[in-house]
Amino acid sequence: MTDDGSPDRDETPAVRSDGGTKGADDVALDPWGASTVDDYRKLFDEFGIESFDDVLPRVPHPHYLMRRGVIFGHRDYRPVADAMANDEPFATLSGFMPTGDPHIGHKLVFDELIWHQERGADAYGLIADLEAHAARGLSWEEIDEHTESYLLSLIALGFDPEAGTLYRQSTNREVQDLAFELGTKANFSELGAIYDFDGETEVSYMQSVITQMADILYPQLSEPKPTVIPVGPDQDPHMRLARDLAGRMRYFKVTEAYASFELDDDERELVARAYDALSADVADPETDVRCNAAAEWLRSEDLAEPGVDSAIEILRSGGKEPLRPRVRFLNRNATDEAFEALIEAIEGEKRVYDEHIDSFELDRHNAERLAREIEVEHGGYGFLPPSSIYHRFMSGLTGGKMSSSIPASHISLLDDPEDGYDKVKSATTGGRETAEEQRRLGGKADECPVYELYAYLLANDDDEFATDVYDECVGGERLCGGCKEQAAELMREFLETHQEKREEAKELLESLDIELESDRR
Ligand code: TRP
Ligand code: SF4
Repeated sequence: MTDDGSPDRDETPAVRSDGGTKGADDVALDPWGASTVDDYRKLFDEFGIESFDDVLPRVPHPHYLMRRGVIFGHRDYRPVADAMANDEPFATLSGFMPTGDPHIGHKLVFDELIWHQERGADAYGLIADLEAHAARGLSWEEIDEHTESYLLSLIALGFDPEAGTLYRQSTNREVQDLAFELGTKANFSELGAIYDFDGETEVSYMQSVITQMADILYPQLSEPKPTVIPVGPDQDPHMRLARDLAGRMRYFKVTEAYASFELDDDERELVARAYDALSADVADPETDVRCNAAAEWLRSEDLAEPGVDSAIEILRSGGKEPLRPRVRFLNRNATDEAFEALIEAIEGEKRVYDEHIDSFELDRHNAERLAREIEVEHGGYGFLPPSSIYHRFMSGLTGGKMSSSIPASHISLLDDPEDGYDKVKSATTGGRETAEEQRRLGGKADECPVYELYAYLLANDDDEFATDVYDECVGGERLCGGCKEQAAELMREFLETHQEKREEAKELLESLDIELESDRR
């Protein structure tokens, strides 16, 4: 353990729990739907979210939410972890719809932003007021009422608004301009397919989606840098679209190729195999492996994989053209000058075509770097695909989902500390019918919303405490009455302190250049 209580790199995290997150819903990633997820594993298989365990060892002194498996998944977090470890620029951003009071679920995201900021990130917190207005139909008056509250809690928990940036979507002209540009790369059918939009969907609703895309890429306006967006998994469709749009804005796309023609991913993999097999037996692999020979090889292998037939056909029409591995720069949106500059900058043997350039000496990684450099020098953004991390949803204190429409199911950061205490005291538990049974069988901490409170919030950075609660519970030494009393007191203390800090944050918030009252109506 290190002095801040976090495990050293490579050490297996001490505290794990499945968070006991049991919801009624199947997996459905819908940004505006019900936000519970029954089976987090499905998110890996069906949506391609990666398990956070895979990157955890690369994260220097991981946050307790990472160590405890509350942050369970990610997309492409590696570049962020590496930037953090190597003291290179990186950013973090998340957004909040001001639809109600901030609650302990939002605190997870606040903490994630703050933690990355403390580790050197350019940090951004935004109020998604356009989205709240367009997608949720909130009036500007209601939006104003909650906007200040989110910002106060974020600052009270440790966000430094002078080092970082807080903004409202509605007043950020740069974000709106970027949204407009991104809108040139997305069309209605695509949004329809991703978000189930149809002919009845309001234009402003669609605009709020493209605004979120701009939010996500906003930290890279001045220069490309790894950016992590901490969110719940319901926001994953937004992340996929944002990553895609980041690519569509690029001047060049770098791919690998084997000859003058284009191949899709399946075909390329097959051609690579043919090339490897044939190049082993020739005097000079740079000239002696021919397309038609590769076609014959593939045919003789009798493969039943996707892309075989089309690969054979393409190779046959390539005839005697030699197969030779290369990296390819495809022109996506480059200006003429940028295209010329890239040609100039590619060292070694190259071949220039109308809309692409093949290089025989650069490797993929250096090619990517060069393409981005030339783009940025010539006025492009050079966006890196933004990364994301996903946290589990907390379950409701009354069992089932945590829902803002059931006050007893969740704890608002504005709740009277005594109410917070009471809500915890009356929470559902994973306890047994009787004390005797509990001593004999142990409690079910993995299904207990009270244990979740400890793991997600009350134990804070103290892994030993969280582990003790867990072990004592499942070992039958801990009974629910006392356990809830302890949790309820900690909750009361937390709310008291947090609300004091909110008071103290008021002055700072007012000194910032953020419009707290909108002129809109
Ligand atoms: N759509 C998010 C929500 O429903 C809010 C949001 C807007 C956001 N812009 C964002 C989240 C950018 C992350 C990043 O809560
Ligand atoms: Fe939950 Fe605590 Fe009861 Fe265990 S002892 S089931 S953690 S309330």
